[in-house]
Amino acid sequence: MDICFLLNGERVDLRGVSPTRTTLDWLRERRGLTGTKEGCNEGDCGACTVMVTDDDGTKALNACILLLPQLHGKALRTVEGIGAPDGALHPVQQAMVDKHGSQCGFCTPGFIVSMAKAHKVGDTGYDDALAGNLCRCTGYAPIVRAAEAAALSPVPDWMAEPPLPEVAELPCAPESAEALAALYAERPEAVLVAGATDVGLWVTKQLRDLSGVIFLNRCADLQRIDVSDDAIRIGAGVTMDRVLELMREEYPSYAEMLRRYGSAQVRAAATIGGNIANGSPIGDNPPVLIALGATLHLRHQGGSRDMPIEEFFLEYGKQDRAPGEFVEAVTIPRGQDRLRVYKLSKRFDQDISAVCGAFNVTVEGGLVTGARIAFGGMAGIPKRAATVEAALIGKPWTDEAVIAAWDGWETDFTPMSDMRASADYRLLAARNMLTRHLLEDLGADTDVRKVRA
Ligand SMILES: Cc1cc2nc3c(=O)[nH]c(=O)nc-3n(C[C@H](O)[C@H](O)[C@H](O)COP(=O)(O)OP(=O)(O)OC[C@H]3O[C@@H](n4cnc5c(N)ncnc54)[C@H](O)[C@@H]3O)c2cc1C
Ligand code: FES
Ligand code: FES
Repeated sequence: MDICFLLNGERVDLRGVSPTRTTLDWLRERRGLTGTKEGCNEGDCGACTVMVTDDDGTKALNACILLLPQLHGKALRTVEGIGAPDGALHPVQQAMVDKHGSQCGFCTPGFIVSMAKAHKVGDTGYDDALAGNLCRCTGYAPIVRAAEAAALSPVPDWMAEPPLPEVAELPCAPESAEALAALYAERPEAVLVAGATDVGLWVTKQLRDLSGVIFLNRCADLQRIDVSDDAIRIGAGVTMDRVLELMREEYPSYAEMLRRYGSAQVRAAATIGGNIANGSPIGDNPPVLIALGATLHLRHQGGSRDMPIEEFFLEYGKQDRAPGEFVEAVTIPRGQDRLRVYKLSKRFDQDISAVCGAFNVTVEGGLVTGARIAFGGMAGIPKRAATVEAALIGKPWTDEAVIAAWDGWETDFTPMSDMRASADYRLLAARNMLTRHLLEDLGADTDVRKVRA
């Protein structure tokens, strides 16, 4: 495969690139740009953070799970390109020196790139911007101080990218959903690659040889968000950082959960379509989408079909998707916001859920009149709590409702025990989430991170 992109401002043309070659390997092994470090090689530590700019703006991404063809037509900047060409330091580099933000230094290049990206786009939410960068020795306070200090300096001229290169269409990267449908019909055995935050790990951790891949990131129509009076249609290729922004106003509890979805680097790559299509029982979007009553749109050559999203998940590892069919979009109804989402994981940031519960309970005149409750981490698929919902409806929205639903949890779910949580813990956590939702609704403060007298 022949690809072209900018590397630290200079055009690079590569011929015969393997579609599953990672950016990190190429930088270190082929270009000798060893400033970008390899820590985990699975998107968790941020040591490999690079900056990528395209028509949609600048993102920080993990190079270890960024496949080279995903860079076609874009601008890549590594830590070697953060300082000035004459050797002058970028404000974030100078501030890291001044504020003692580095000890052993292994994490520092990744931090510098994340900080320079935040500096470039004016993002001052450093706790979130740097949550995907792991530092084992310095501690975060001096690093955040450095980021704050650097924010007082303007973005240096050399951080502006030259015009992006005009590039040819790649045979395995269709540029519309229609072209994707045609190509996938011809090659239904191909692996679709969207953000590669799952597929990248198949390459780096499972060492899988993916014989055929189709990249989705150049399908412009899959990246559309269409908002009407009563619904929001989100294309499968919309990344989680964009969904987060969209939900801040629409469903703030959803946005708050997404703030804890992976890290800034993961959210900038991962797509909502990938999170649905992979069918993971611990994916964070599906329970929320089920609770909201979302509609899934599937497409194949010659047609498309819609279904309530919960019907897509058949059993563990099996979804209702035919060969050559792909996720095109998902539509969320708009309306009164009754949604509450609780993500339970061992760490606050950058951790996969042990249990993720989404509650959409309607109350009128003090009585529960409707309930859509769905969970991840409680079964082999993301699943509705149908018995619990039925037990709630018609009850007063008080402790009585929680008690009425008590036995229903075990009818609805037989969770498993694994390294994240035991089955008993999961069941108890789900029950407690309903109590928490009720208490919050009645005005109680349930934030366990707040210290109270
Ligand atoms: C460090 C790290 C942290 C993570 N944290 C979280 C987390 O907090 N919560 C969470 O839910 N997940 C998390 N994940 C998992 C991952 O980010 C998600 O599952 C992600 O949404 C997958 O999307 P993607 O675009 O990267 O998919 P890809 O990796 O490109 O693809 C995933 C699967 O979906 C298929 N696919 C992709 N798009 C389509 C489509 N449009 N139609 C049909 N099939 C398609 C692919 O063929 C593949 O089988 C994390 C991953 C990493 C590496
Ligand atoms: S090496 Fe850890 S995120 Fe890439
Ligand atoms: S300075 Fe050592 S890991 Fe951060």
